Amino acid sequence: MADATRNKFPPGPTDGFKGWSFGPLNANPLEYFTKLARDYGDVAGMRVLNFKSIFINHPDAIEEVLVTNARKFTKGKVLRANRHVFGEGLLTSEGEFWLRQRRLAQPAFHRGRITSYASTMVEYTQRLIEDWRDGEERDAHKEMMRLTLQIVGKTLFDADVARDARDVGKSLELLLEIGADFRRTILIPHWVPTPTNLRVKREVAQIEKILYRIIAERRASGRDAGDLLSMLLAAQDEDGSRMTDKQLRDETITLFLAGHETTASTLSWTWWLLAQNPAVEAKLHAELDSVLGGRPPSFDDLPRLAYTGHVITESLRLYPAAWGMARLVVEDHEVAGYPVTKGMGVAMAQWVVHRDPRWYDTPEKFLPERWEGDLLKRLPRFAYFPFGGGPRQCIGNSFALMEAALLLATIAQKFRLRLVANHPVVPLASITLRPRHGVRVLLESRQQRGLRDNSISAQSAVAD
Ligand code: HEM
Repeated sequence: MADATRNKFPPGPTDGFKGWSFGPLNANPLEYFTKLARDYGDVAGMRVLNFKSIFINHPDAIEEVLVTNARKFTKGKVLRANRHVFGEGLLTSEGEFWLRQRRLAQPAFHRGRITSYASTMVEYTQRLIEDWRDGEERDAHKEMMRLTLQIVGKTLFDADVARDARDVGKSLELLLEIGADFRRTILIPHWVPTPTNLRVKREVAQIEKILYRIIAERRASGRDAGDLLSMLLAAQDEDGSRMTDKQLRDETITLFLAGHETTASTLSWTWWLLAQNPAVEAKLHAELDSVLGGRPPSFDDLPRLAYTGHVITESLRLYPAAWGMARLVVEDHEVAGYPVTKGMGVAMAQWVVHRDPRWYDTPEKFLPERWEGDLLKRLPRFAYFPFGGGPRQCIGNSFALMEAALLLATIAQKFRLRLVANHPVVPLASITLRPRHGVRVLLESRQQRGLRDNSISAQSAVAD
């Protein structure tokens, strides 16, 4: 450790982030952390009352926390404060219990297994766009949320949640909007009967009702659907005991929430970026038309849909659904040359690192081409980490990438999504990064417009 930093707390802001006032952090966390990195560099210190935390921006320091010394850190305060929602599910549990559950769930996410989900993903997407009409206005975010919820329900729990999608979507939207208030989340315990907490309770109960129904139906049928729910139901402890309904509820609510809103937001940002970058959109269409020639995509097409993959990679760089992450120190250690002691927090933000000019040229530009070469190999490991890393890395990583590419390919083959003028598309940094007011779009059927364009050019050719 450098002598100069021994026993020291890194420099950081002295205004706005002290006392009870989370001020600028709460108002706009993306701007706040960007400014922190600009003003203090790779590490900054923050204090709220007697809670100290450091904010790290260098990929090596992030690797140190997430991978090399992962056992010295647990999940951070915001996720912990949301335990009444996620319970002891994979995202929030710790230690031996987490490890056991992770091992249990892992087979449902193995490559062999998830490839079998591809056809469901495409089929559900086709079903969604069957209702879409040329010239119609829709909220792309709402559409993506409905679709990804149904896909998680079907692939992991063999449940048809089409009729529940609207209720779950509404409840979730409220939970995430409330979750964006970090001050409230951290400072007010969830059991205090404030109007907001009572609302959260109601929305969680609404989602639980659906989950308990799915669990009860499966228990009653005794059916082995070969899906994640069957695996969890069949799992036994060494003493022969099985998972309780409460444990199953915690795992299912975690997978429903972690597994659908993230992918939906990634796609919503992608539509928004594509609509503003016609050259990228044209290149994407050209790839889809030449590789697929009008037929629906399948898992086997993905290696040949390289540009489609780069579009998703780039979208996750600029608008990472997990925009920031936090840890709590459980064993004293040193990070970025500064000592961190038990009880302190460590924060890091994909939003900031993914836009750092040290790693990316023209970082603010949406440029899927940047991934065509060996950039990923040249980058420090944690200069790009949309799925986190180390033992707590996203279990749904491959699932999500496959889903995003297949949904994008299925839809973009048929439709172009144009932005509705004057509709504000604004990022809301809650637990995830979502478009606050959705993404309102005008649908353009590529086939109908193509035919019309062709006939117009044919007419003008005749007239000439
Ligand atoms: C683009 C989509 C997604 C993104 C950006 C994303 C991002 C992340 C990140 C960053 C973490 C680590 C959080 C931390 O360490 O604090 C995580 C964890 C997790 N994700 Fe995802 N995720 C996505 C999709 C999914 C999907 C599709 C599923 C399931 C179907 C899923 C299930 C989970 C679970 C269960 C965890 C906790 C894993 C553990 O701690 O063992 N995610 N995700």
